[in-house]
Amino acid sequence: MTSILVLNGPNLNLLGTRQPEVYGRTTLEDIEAMCRANASEHCIRIGFEQSNHEGVLVDTIHAARGCHDGIILNAGAYTHTSLALMDALGAVDLPAIELHLSNVHAREDFRHVSHIARVCVGVICGFGAHGYILALDAMRAHLARDPEHGA
Ligand code: DQA
Repeated sequence: MTSILVLNGPNLNLLGTRQPEVYGRTTLEDIEAMCRANASEHCIRIGFEQSNHEGVLVDTIHAARGCHDGIILNAGAYTHTSLALMDALGAVDLPAIELHLSNVHAREDFRHVSHIARVCVGVICGFGAHGYILALDAMRAHLARDPEHGA
């Protein structure tokens, strides 16, 4: 059965109360429930993780090898700073999608830089919590096309 890791970086544990005008009022628990419902509708498995620590995110990406077929990553601010996350995604042979709730390109200049986009098959941003469902749909479609990781 196809399995997708949905990995969340720093401060996303505070969704719901963190700058709701930017990130909405949906909590990370609500998002996990939405993702799990979508996954069971499409008969796939998901892992859903969050960490505020860069090294833990690196370890989680490494551990995805052999467990998951693809990674959806909202790396939060580490998107804009972390060569370690870029290298980790590049080191595991798994397709990845970069995800953001907000439209990072409509925000401060430093959010226009992504170190991880170059090792991702695509980027989804600006659709709030629904972006997680868009990313799951996009990853399922990508895996179905990819003979190596076919669903
Ligand atoms: C974010 C965008 C990042 O720039 C920010 O640092 C976050 C959240 C988003 O989901 O919109 O923590 O990844």
